[in-house]
Amino acid sequence: MPYDPKNKLRLIKDVEFSTHFKAETWEDYNRQFFNQLAKKYDATNVLHSFGTKHRMDRAAVARLPIKPGSTILDLCTGSGDIALAIATQFPDCKVVGVDYSENMLELAAQKTAGLKSVSYQQGDVTRLPFPDGAFDGAIISFGLRNLSDLRVGLREFRRVIRPGGFFCNIDQGKPQNALFRLAYKVYFYHIAPLIGKLVFHRGEFNSFRYLPESNKYFPDQREMEALFVEADFKNVKTYGFWMGAVAQQIADV
Ligand SMILES: C[S@@+](CC[C@H](N)C(=O)[O-])C[C@H]1O[C@@H](n2cnc3c(N)ncnc32)[C@H](O)[C@@H]1O
Repeated sequence: MPYDPKNKLRLIKDVEFSTHFKAETWEDYNRQFFNQLAKKYDATNVLHSFGTKHRMDRAAVARLPIKPGSTILDLCTGSGDIALAIATQFPDCKVVGVDYSENMLELAAQKTAGLKSVSYQQGDVTRLPFPDGAFDGAIISFGLRNLSDLRVGLREFRRVIRPGGFFCNIDQGKPQNALFRLAYKVYFYHIAPLIGKLVFHRGEFNSFRYLPESNKYFPDQREMEALFVEADFKNVKTYGFWMGAVAQQIADV
């Protein structure tokens, strides 16, 4: 199904956001969801990634064309995993993390406490409070799926990256191998949501349903590359983790 931002609103019912939260807009539902999830977010990632998220973050960051002294924007920084990976792998660079969930930002600040090169700002990444070309590069990890229209996000991200800089996205992809795809679907659609309901989120919104449900309307690797080109990014390259279950795009500005 081609990417259509209108499908996003269907998710409010599909994942039962409207049963658990009171909000007027998609953004407000999503922010409340992450505020509620914050304390358990890192633990749920361990389960989603079979304990490999930090290793994937480090490998993905190592691939970035970061030059000494760069200032990098970490969009939808969440609990700060990517900001931390950049700050430790590129200690002479500055990192600015942006997120609209105050609870997630609190965790991020704790995680990178003591690292002077990292700072955070609360805000909506589709309306960034930065001038054109303010950053040498930007990265978004498991963030694009949350935007009400990812085309709007991509245009805004491109605006704040200087010519010659880079943009990177990390998110779920669609695995190419048919057998692996089947096993992956069974786990993400059936087993993980059950574990989420029984172990992690008794009586609250079950975050383990959000990842697979939001994946239904999320572009696969090829379509994501086309959306990058549409937003005027160049030389888009896609890399895979877990046989394509997680995909990383890196592009030039
Ligand atoms: C799945 S978490 C990803 C966190 C982190 N990048 C990582 O890799 O673990 C998604 C984050 O995006 C944030 N978010 C979603 N939409 C946003 C928006 N429009 N503006 C700012 N933050 C947003 C949420 O608050 C949440 O912290």
